[in-house]
Amino acid sequence: MASDWDHRFAGTDYFYGTAPADFVARQAWRLAPGARLLSLAEGEGRNACYLAGQGAKVTALERSPVALAKARALAAERGVSVNWQPMDLAQYDWPKAAFDAVLGVFIQFAPADLQAEIFAGIGRTLRPGGLVMLHGFATRQMGYGSGGPRVPGQLYTLDRLRAAFAGYTLLHQADFDADLDEGAGHHGRAALIDFVARKP
Ligand SMILES: C[S@@+](CC[C@H](N)C(=O)[O-])C[C@H]1O[C@@H](n2cnc3c(N)ncnc32)[C@H](O)[C@@H]1O
Repeated sequence: MASDWDHRFAGTDYFYGTAPADFVARQAWRLAPGARLLSLAEGEGRNACYLAGQGAKVTALERSPVALAKARALAAERGVSVNWQPMDLAQYDWPKAAFDAVLGVFIQFAPADLQAEIFAGIGRTLRPGGLVMLHGFATRQMGYGSGGPRVPGQLYTLDRLRAAFAGYTLLHQADFDADLDEGAGHHGRAALIDFVARKP
């Protein structure tokens, strides 16, 4: 059965555009050439294709077949190779210490219990010294209309992320407002969180 996400991605346009999220472009320098990167709920491929083009070895998980078909088309157009995996994150087995970095950009579809499973899974699948790289809406986004779920528990605060990744070395954290221009999906003033930390 087609999901709400399939419907959102059904048009010929890329719903969040084809340029990487600004966070991804700003933080990509942290990835060594050939870094094994896992992208969670990758959508239509904008971030995975960009990072593959920068030399990362990207595995991208995404549940929507409609999004994945467009992601594959974007990779073909760019001439980059990505390991695309149709995947519901609730079913993922999080292979132990398999990745140098895990990226989650606007993965705030998950209710609190699944979000906790995802954060624990990130900790499991990162190798020691690997990077967690998260970007999404802050709880302050409830006051804006530029996208994201209207559920405060699914939005981020830096305190919550620091608690979820306790013991990690904090490399970059920011709670800020910016104007988003990411396709039809994210447009206008937004309250955002960046979080990059290194697993011990
Ligand atoms: C807001 S979009 C973000 C997409 C992408 N990360 C980006 O920034 O362009 C959220 C994505 O989560 C995917 N998604 C929703 N539920 C999922 C689940 N249970 N497992 C995997 N992906 C899921 C949707 O299909 C959608 O692509």
